[in-house]
Amino acid sequence: MSQAIESERSRYDALMDVVERRMTVRAFDPDYVVPKDHYEMILEAARHAPSGANAQPWHFIVVTDQALKNEIMEYFRAEQVARAKLKMKFPTPDYRGLATSPGLIVVASDFRWTKAFPVLNDGSDLDKMYKENAERILLQSVAAATMSAHLAAAALGYNVWWVTAIGQEAAQKAMKPLLGIPEELSVLDIMCFGPAAKKPYKRWKKKLDEVVNWNRFDQSHFMTDAEIDEWIARTRHKVMYRDESNVD
Ligand SMILES: Cc1cc2nc3c(=O)[nH]c(=O)nc-3n(C[C@H](O)[C@H](O)[C@H](O)COP(=O)(O)O)c2cc1C
Repeated sequence: MSQAIESERSRYDALMDVVERRMTVRAFDPDYVVPKDHYEMILEAARHAPSGANAQPWHFIVVTDQALKNEIMEYFRAEQVARAKLKMKFPTPDYRGLATSPGLIVVASDFRWTKAFPVLNDGSDLDKMYKENAERILLQSVAAATMSAHLAAAALGYNVWWVTAIGQEAAQKAMKPLLGIPEELSVLDIMCFGPAAKKPYKRWKKKLDEVVNWNRFDQSHFMTDAEIDEWIARTRHKVMYRDESNVD
């Protein structure tokens, strides 16, 4: 093997070490203070992300003010109660952990950027179809940047928490004034990071051969509606809240 290939392999291994160790936790050490340069290093990784039309349709709001963190957390707690009342049956996490997060970054986007993607902009039915696709492009772009930030945080030794339970309109209305976010923008997710309050655990991941298809879709990977419903009823809570060894 040439020396160049060997060094590429070690870079891959270093990357995979970070990828595998990126683990979600939902409670942090509240006394830890994130150094300012860590925020910058994390967002520097986000800045280099790919995006549709290279539009870079993202904004990051670093929240260091504990009172603001508490207010954000309070919104989630109220939302949690509302969801329980609605009997949504989603195994909602304890969002009080948000207020303990030493690092908290709100990720926002501006859906007007969908105009930069392949659309007709003439209000026709066809335009509507392309606009839906444009929204997907926008969301994937912001997710790409967010993922880079999460990996950078993991590389710095932090645990992370990707919170999206804020898409609904009421959440937008509650969150934007708190942070002075203009009406035109949407809050897409919140990135929490810091040292974990308890030992993090690795969650279940599908095996490689369950997700990889060669040339054609492997029909054995297809799940029926009933199988998906069964997975949601019997497995979902385990893969969200248990160690990978505790999922059968
Ligand atoms: C797009 C996306 C949305 C998520 N939304 C939430 C959320 O709203 N609340 C939450 O507690 N966790 C959320 N998570 C975290 C997932 O539950 C977590 O990534 C998953 O259980 C796998 O665990 P791991 O990150 O440790 O691999 C989200 C993750 C992603 C990528």
